[in-house]
Amino acid sequence: MTTTSLRQSDALVLFGATGDLAYKKLFPALHAMIRNGALDAPKVPVVGVASAKWREDEVRERIVRSVGEHGGVADSGALGRLLAGFRYVGGDYGDAGVFRAIREALPDARRPTHYLAIPPAMFETVIAGLGAAGLAENARVIVEKPFGRDLASARELNRIAQAAFPEKSIFRIDHYLGKEAIMNILYFRFANSFLEPIWNRNYIDNVQITLSERFGVEGRGAFYETAGCLRDVIQNHLFQIVALLAMEPPVYRGYGAVQDKTAEVFRAMRPLRPGDLVRGQYAGYLDEAGVDRDSDVETFCALRLFIDSWRWEGVPWFLRAGKALAGTVAEVLVQLKRPPQRLFEDSAVQAGRANYLRFRISPDAAVALAARVKTTGEEFAGEQRELYLLNERSGEASPYERLLTDALAGKGALFIRQDAVEAAWAVVDPVLADRPRALPYPRGSWGPPDADRLVEAHGGWTLPEIHQDISR
Ligand code: BG6
Repeated sequence: MTTTSLRQSDALVLFGATGDLAYKKLFPALHAMIRNGALDAPKVPVVGVASAKWREDEVRERIVRSVGEHGGVADSGALGRLLAGFRYVGGDYGDAGVFRAIREALPDARRPTHYLAIPPAMFETVIAGLGAAGLAENARVIVEKPFGRDLASARELNRIAQAAFPEKSIFRIDHYLGKEAIMNILYFRFANSFLEPIWNRNYIDNVQITLSERFGVEGRGAFYETAGCLRDVIQNHLFQIVALLAMEPPVYRGYGAVQDKTAEVFRAMRPLRPGDLVRGQYAGYLDEAGVDRDSDVETFCALRLFIDSWRWEGVPWFLRAGKALAGTVAEVLVQLKRPPQRLFEDSAVQAGRANYLRFRISPDAAVALAARVKTTGEEFAGEQRELYLLNERSGEASPYERLLTDALAGKGALFIRQDAVEAAWAVVDPVLADRPRALPYPRGSWGPPDADRLVEAHGGWTLPEIHQDISR
């Protein structure tokens, strides 16, 4: 939306260049950006930094493999340009020599962007190193989630980042905000007027959001031990979805207005209590590499949330996410209330749910409105049908491609503001300290049966449809 006079970054420094995120998402995104003209490599160089002392040729080989495996359509020209502009700096992040080497690799850069795809525990060291080497001047920094591990550490992280960079140069990335289907929630809500009269406690019974993954922690056991599902995807990805669904209309045309409204939603969320939460752990998690044998870390989390605002008073928001579940799917169901009177033959036995609006986020994108229609015959009985407003396999740019392009251009619209991060932590903070134990659940299920208890009074969870062909 709004842009001020933003200047394009002239170099990218990627901390964590030998990590999982760089391999699966970032190098493929850079490759795609070169292919479509968003990154002018090798003129805009990429410097990879990692603490592991890899040789440059090993890192280059890894980039080739990463792009081959995750980069979509092969384009040797784009890959060649990525490699031509690539330099590698290896060493300990606490060593000033690493930062001198980065400087030397970038003799002409005036406005670099630094991407911290590293464990949050390293942020302070790296940001201090950048500051001391003069690499923070006119620079931007992209910080990967989770931003802190609770409210206190998020505040500390923000303090550290803001000591070296102004807020407008700090890009807190949540890749869910770069997904088409999620941007469409914002668009759909405010580009139409028919929703507004029903979009409140009078017509909406509850909202359910599911982020389910069929796979387990996949080699990220050590990371998961420090995070757990609540920190990994709920406090950020799912909360962002809640914010887009729940926010008041932005008051001007600009993303600053959207960010204001996001922060307002988080501030209105009632802090969670232990009874609002069911934690689960899949059978076999304790045998994963990097996992403590007595670990109580949750790989599944379901919760009931309230937004104490005029619009949402009394409406429960049910969120659940987990690994090793029945399928890989992300979906929102906005469940409307039933009609006040049961006038028809099938009213009493009406199987299934009242009308609803469904936003499918992945693996395919859909917006469907479900309403009942009469079936032909003498009886006044019918069935619920879905009217699809959108139903497509996503052909979108990867969220990382979109967000990296924006960050290099200095556009902060799709990034998270400090006040929103802190307000979101304030909601989950109470249950980080005081929480029920993680209950076991079998792989391939929908989590521990106790999660159903949360939703009992509202007809249970709606199970998203799983298309076996496209779920991992
Ligand atoms: C990441 C989490 O942020 O999001 C992962 O760390 C999770 O655990 C992933 O699998 C889900 O993202 P997507 O885009 O695959 O739905």
